[in-house]
Parts: sequence; structure tokens; C-alpha cells
Amino acid sequence: MRVAAFTDLTGPDGVELVDRDDPQPGEGEAVVDVRACSINRHDLWILQGDSAMVSEGALPFVSGLDVAGVVAETGPGASVSEGDRVVLCPNQTCGTCRYCREGPENLCQSFMLYHGGLAEQATVTADRLIALPDDLSFRDAACLPTAYLTAWHMYRKADVTAGDTVFVPGATGGVGVAAVQLGDVLGVETVGTTTSQRKADRLDDIGCSHVVVSGDPDDIVREVRGVGQVNAALNHLAGEFTEVAGKVLERGGRQVVCGRTAGSRVDTAAAPFFLQHQEILGSTMGTQPELERLVELVSDGAFDPVVGGTYPLEETREAFRDMAERDAFGKLVVEP
Ligand SMILES: NC(=O)c1ccc[n+]([C@@H]2O[C@H](COP(=O)([O-])OP(=O)(O)OC[C@H]3O[C@@H](n4cnc5c(N)ncnc54)[C@H](OP(=O)(O)O)[C@@H]3O)[C@@H](O)[C@H]2O)c1
Ligand SMILES: [Zn+2]
Repeated sequence: MRVAAFTDLTGPDGVELVDRDDPQPGEGEAVVDVRACSINRHDLWILQGDSAMVSEGALPFVSGLDVAGVVAETGPGASVSEGDRVVLCPNQTCGTCRYCREGPENLCQSFMLYHGGLAEQATVTADRLIALPDDLSFRDAACLPTAYLTAWHMYRKADVTAGDTVFVPGATGGVGVAAVQLGDVLGVETVGTTTSQRKADRLDDIGCSHVVVSGDPDDIVREVRGVGQVNAALNHLAGEFTEVAGKVLERGGRQVVCGRTAGSRVDTAAAPFFLQHQEILGSTMGTQPELERLVELVSDGAFDPVVGGTYPLEETREAFRDMAERDAFGKLVVEP
């Protein structure tokens, strides 16, 4: 089989098509024919040599968390059957720690993520596969596991209620678009930002209530304050956007941080933070039952995942280039 492997960690030019032996499923495993695998900035961090999870010693490395496809073969004791249409929950957990026993599983003390979807076939733990309704395409399903699941779980942590207003800095990528669409599902208004007028028009189309076109912190604070009271922020950018979110949030407002695209620190002045009784919460991924719920919601027509581009396996490099150059709106999906 062919895989799109990272052969060096210097950026998109490091992606190459490589031949590998066809995989064999072990106990409790399934081999999935990958029909779609969306990419995430997490994969790009790895490819750029900016992730503690993967070093040069692991090359060639096959990334790709968000697998949707058809079960091709099963190992002994696997909980799925050949021919099943499935999407993978990329959570990898120990199954025995306090959080695995009592929940939520994404707090598992040994929490890890699956990698290996940028390939014609992927060997996965069968229990992590979720059945896909016939009306849900592989392309749409592959959008859900990381970006939409993360945004969904962030909304739970932000403790929003219908009618609230939520600030989403960087609203045009995977997590950002998911936050806008899921906000709509939950009945909250969203205030999204982008530096691109072209992407701002798309934000209007998908139901973002207020769009701010700027990357400048002071401009953004001024414009968002003009919108009115903001109850929560879903912040995947961190860096200086932490303080921006703090400045636009109401007293007691909550910001949930899941990423570091704009900076590796969660920096903000202490006094306004405590005087305003604000909260900053970290969040990573979500639980498998939450992903099952998202599959149901798409199948019921509550929202359509936004696909910003599709690429055959041999063009995986271009997908990462488009992400790195901030060309994309929504999810980028590789279709082996
Ligand atoms: N903890 C978790 O479980 C988890 C899960 C998913 C993602 N994440 C993290 O969340 C972040 C987003 O991931 P993603 O896959 O959604 O990425 P993505 O699709 O590449 O996000 C693109 C968005 O980020 C904005 N952006 C890009 N570079 C920026 C910069 N230097 N400064 C400010 N804004 C910038 C873009 O704004 P423009 O519209 O202006 O171009 C766009 O809105 C990443 O940090 C990722 O690691 C974490
Ligand atoms: Zn555990």
C-alpha cells in the first residue's frame, strides 16, 4: 500500500509517497481502507519539527488522525465486521486510570492520539471505530474527529447557554469553523475574526453572527466590544489572543484554550484577570460518546461540515502547503 509519509521535518516539502507492506490486524484491531482523512494543524506542527510527540528518529512518519473508511479486515476479538463504514475516534487511552474508569476519557493520564491515516490503509483499535450512517459521506465524517470534537468539548467546558455570545478568534480554520457551526447548533451567537476578506465572506455564509476582519489586537478588542456583552471565548490561538479574549469577556467570563497557533504562552495581565473574576480553562479533544453525538447531528442535518479542499494521497504535500499559507477555509481532506 501507499502512504504519505513525513520523510523530514522541515515543512510540506518533507511529505513523500512511500510503499509499505499491507498491514495485518492484531488482536482487537481492524484494518480500514481509508477513504478520507482530514488534516489538522497538529499534523503540520509535526511536519514542521515543532511537536514534542515526533522527532527525527521516528522518520519516515505517517501522520493523520481523522480516518473515515471501510473495514477491510479484522483481527481476533475485533468489535466490527468487514464492510462496515466507520469513522475513527483518535483518542488512545490506558483504560485503567481514574479518568478512564470514571470519565472523562480525554483526561486519561496516558492520553495519546492515533497517527497513521494518511495512507491507503490504517490499522486501528476496533473499539475506537464508530459506525457511519449510510447518508453520511466519508469526506464529511473525516472532518469531525479532531476539529469538531475539540470545539464541541470546549463549548461544554465554557458552560454556554442558548442566547450567549461567544468570541472565536481565528474563526476560519478547522476548530474555528467548527466553533461557529456548533455555536449555531447550540443557539449561541458567535463573533469570529479573520485577517482575510475572502474568508470573512465565507464566515457570513456559515452563520457567524458578527465578523471582524483584522489581526490587530487593539482593532479586534474595539470591534468586539462594539458588538456587546461576550460571555465566553473559544481560543485555539493563545499567545496575545489570550489577553484580547480577556478584554472582551464579561465579568466572570470563561475562555477555553485548546491550541497555540499565535503563540506558545497563555499570556495575560494578572490584575484585570482576577478583578474581573475570569476563568481560563485548558481543553484537549473530547470523548468518544461526544464524537458519536456529532455523527448523529450531521446525519440529522443539524450542520454540514465545511470542506475547504480535497486532495488525492499524492497531493498531501499541497494540502499542508495550503494550511501553512493560511489559504484554507474549513477542513482539508486527503482522499487516498
Ligand atoms: N488540544 C486539542 O485537542 C486540539 C485539537 C484541535 C486543534 N488544536 C489546536 O488548535 C489550533 C487550530 O487547529 P486547526 O487544525 O483548526 O488549525 P487551522 O485550520 O490551520 O486554523 C486556521 C485558523 O488559524 C488562524 N491563524 C493561522 N495562523 C495564525 C497566526 N499566526 N496568528 C493568528 N491566527 C492565525 C487563521 O486565521 P486567518 O483566517 O486570518 O488566516 C484561521 O482562522 C492549533 O493550534 C491546533 O494545534 C488543539
Ligand atoms: Zn487512562
